[in-house]
Formats: sequence, C-alpha cells, structure tokens
Amino acid sequence: MSEALAVSGVTKTFGAVKAVDGVSAAFALGEIAFVCGENGAGKSTLLRIAAGLTTPDAGRVTVLGRPLDPHTPREALARGVAMVEQHFALIDDFDAVENVILGFEPTRRGVVDRAAAEAQIRAIVADLGTTLPLDVPVSALELGDRQRLEIVRALYRKAKIVILDEPTAVLTPMEASALYAVLRRLADRGAAVVVVSHKLDEVEAHADRVTVMRAGKALFSEQPGAARAELVARMTQAIMGELEPGPTAPRGEVGGAVALSLRGVTLGRALTELDLEVRSGEIVGVAGVEGNGQAELLEVLAGAVDPDSGAATPRGGGGAITVVHADRHQDGLVLDASLVDNLVLGEHAQYTRFGVLDLPRMEAAARARLSDAGASFDLQRPARTLSGGNQQKVVMARALAHAESKVLVCAHPTRGVDLGAARAIHARILGAAARGMGVLVVSADLAELRELSHRILVMRKGRVVAELPPEASEEELGRAMLGASEASS
Ligand SMILES: Nc1ncnc2c1ncn2[C@@H]1O[C@H](COP(=O)(O)OP(=O)(O)OP(=O)(O)O)[C@@H](O)[C@H]1O
Ligand SMILES: [Mg+2]
Repeated sequence: MSEALAVSGVTKTFGAVKAVDGVSAAFALGEIAFVCGENGAGKSTLLRIAAGLTTPDAGRVTVLGRPLDPHTPREALARGVAMVEQHFALIDDFDAVENVILGFEPTRRGVVDRAAAEAQIRAIVADLGTTLPLDVPVSALELGDRQRLEIVRALYRKAKIVILDEPTAVLTPMEASALYAVLRRLADRGAAVVVVSHKLDEVEAHADRVTVMRAGKALFSEQPGAARAELVARMTQAIMGELEPGPTAPRGEVGGAVALSLRGVTLGRALTELDLEVRSGEIVGVAGVEGNGQAELLEVLAGAVDPDSGAATPRGGGGAITVVHADRHQDGLVLDASLVDNLVLGEHAQYTRFGVLDLPRMEAAARARLSDAGASFDLQRPARTLSGGNQQKVVMARALAHAESKVLVCAHPTRGVDLGAARAIHARILGAAARGMGVLVVSADLAELRELSHRILVMRKGRVVAELPPEASEEELGRAMLGASEASS
C-alpha cells in the first residue's frame, strides 16, 4: 500500500484513563478507511494525535513516510493533514467564508481576496451537492451547516489526508451519501480519507479498510475487499459481543389523551401555521432536512421564544415538558462542570435545604441516573473529559430521569452513541412512552425514526407537509423531505 499516515506504538493517558494504549495503524492513499469502536474506545484521541492536535505520551506519527516533527497542528496541516473534529472548532463571530480561509487567505496586491475565496468555496459546496449560507455568522448556523462548513474547510485546504470524526452524525441519509460521493472522489484522486462512524451501513457501503478499537487498543485492521458485510458482522461481534435484537416499537394508533399540541404556530419565517399533536403514550418522529424549522420548533417548545401567533401546550418551565436540544455543547452540558452537576442541571434547588446544598443526596440522584443509563463514570469528572458519545449518554440520562414530565421532546437522541448504547436509549424512550409520556423525536437518522415512531411527520419550510407510517421507506421519506412530489406535479 502507498502509506499516507501511520501511527506506531502511540499511547495517551489522561489522569487514570489510558485513552490510547500502544496503537499502531496505517492508512493508505486512495482509500477510505474507517475507525470504529464503542464510545470511549479512543478513536477521537488516536486521530487527534495523528493530526498533530494532541501530543502522545509515547509513539510516533508518520506522514507520507516522514515523521511528523514538530508534532503540531500547523506542521500537520502544512504536510497535508486536515481533521474535522467531532465537536467543531469554528469561530462563532466569523462567517463561513472567514472561517474557511482563516490562515489560508488568498490575497491580491496584499489584501484578502474574498471574492476569489468565495468562488472557490461555492465550487466546493456545489461539489458536495449541498447548500451553505456563506455570509452569516457561524453562531447563526444550524448544526448540519456547521458540519458541512468544517468539511468544506478541510477540502479548501487541499488536504491530501482528510480525517473526519463522525461527520454524518447529524446528516440525513441523503446528505451522507452526497458526502461519501465526494470522499470517494477524493480517494480516487489519490487522497487518504479516514472516517469515524458508528453507522454500520456506512462502513458496509464505503470502507476500503476498517480499524476496530476497544478500550484504547487496536483490535484489528483489515481490508475487506468484497467481503464488507462479513467484516461488519465480525466487527459488531468484536465491539459488542452478541447483540440482543433491538427493541421493537409498538405499532398502530395510540388512543391516549393529547399530551402535546401545537396549533397554528407561526414564528418569523421559520414556522408557518404549524399544527402537530402527540398523544400520551405516543412517539411521533419528526423528519426533515435540517433548517426547515426543527430548531425553532424545539425553541418554542422549550419556552425559549414566544411564537408570533398560535399556541403550544405545554411549554418549558414548570416541569411538564423536557426538551433535549440538538447541540449538546450549546444547550445540554456545562462542559467544565462535574458530571454530578450536569446530571441534575437545573434542579439544584431541589437538593438545597435551608440554603445548604445536600451534596450526598444530589450525588446519589446523579449516580442513580447514570446507572439507569447503563453507564458508570467518576461523578467528579468534568463533562469535557468524556468522549462524545458518552456525553450524549449523560444528556439523555438526565432527560429520561424526568419521569414527572408528561412530554419528552428530544433532538438526535443517539447522536454519536454506539450501537449498544443507542439500543438502550431507544428502549428507554419506548419505556417512557409505554408509561404514558408523549414523545416527540427530531432526528436526521431516518432508521432511528422508523424504529421508534408510531408515525413520522415530515417538516419542510416551517410546516408539517406529510405524515407517513414507520413502515415508509427511506426513499419515500426522502422524497417528502425534499418536496419531490411537489416539484414533479
Ligand atoms: N481531555 C480529556 N481528559 C480526560 N479524559 C479524556 C480526555 N479526552 C478523552 N478522554 C478519555 O479518553 C477515552 C477515549 O476518549 P475518545 O474521545 O478518544 O473516545 P472515542 O472512541 O472517540 O468515543 P466516542 O465514540 O464516544 O466519540 C475516554 O475514556 C475519555 O473519557
Ligand atoms: Mg470520539
């Protein structure tokens, strides 16, 4: 193989945690390689080391046959290695163009040639088969747009070795295929592409090489050739052992009382006369290409903004509704606070008597929530030190503990979570509905919506434009999301 990037004997310890434990692995030019493994296995840490972003305690990184020395992000970039991180590294006040060209500004007679940069960026965006607002501050962009922006930035830097850490976690299946088409073209043109993903269908469809990690070690690395399906089966077994079949959602109509209702909700240009109802005991999925009002719907339900007209009941505050937002770093977690504080976020008053915080009681509650979620972490750790998927487990552990809520609204409940943990979260959402909660799930993952929902609503341009049964195919859902029937009539 024509070796692009290699790590050998790489080790990284954080306090008592051996995040990466003597890993050697190599990635080749012309290939799309996948790195897989359960949450906390060390994937992000290993690849951050490969991209010069984290210094290893021991071991070496080699780029195109030469040691990465000095081991810095700047040197890695100069040598053609770019990484799209799991949690984005964009500058909020800058717009898309400014973020992309930062440090790589094209100049004309000594001044930054924004027009030239913008033309190049537009070409890359078009190549990706997507759209991206280029002139608003990044803070105003949806999660999916930020993801695409990170990818555009790596492509703009003409990286020869592109590392993407869970790039499709918030993308719809259609957007993911467009991305993989671009990645395949990059590989065909001779680049090395390394992707982290928990989505087995992606591995099965696109992997030229699979490296599986577990507890900081590389279990195996293989080129499956034509036998991808067989490798995926073996890999699943290696990562998780015998997997219980996933829970099956109860089907059919739910006759409970209305738990959540929106009537004629209009908000600026984002939501237009939106009607929607969830019954007690019902799980309603919301599908849609991101940016069609889902974020605003969540904000209205959380009580963060008032609709211009129409009514939503119940809304945030008073504990009747629990809302899990799309961006766990913006709304879900206080990264520098401990897991205890994060697990009871917003409820500290309940654990305070006569002005004194009852710490043991609060910790007991936090510990119980975590163990209900099937996880056990040191409760004093800052949330920042958990892997991405494990952070998501904490967010969901808190939301699912609010048994007194009549309504649970969650966006991307299993974003970045490994297969075993995703099944556990799904089982708990199903359990919450079985106990009478009304549940609204917003997700880019159509397979997830089909597995969980009694019915699936499709949002487009701020309205519910279709309602489909969970048996609907991804193609049918995709057509409704894109408005294909409208366009062809
Ligand atoms: N800055 C840090 N401080 C302390 N521990 C850390 C830090 N970064 C990572 N870890 C720990 O290192 C281990 C590996 O984390 P890493 O983020 O590499 O996992 P991952 O395989 O990418 O998981 P995921 O699929 O959830 O993203 C985990 O136990 C994590 O908690
Ligand atoms: Mg990770």
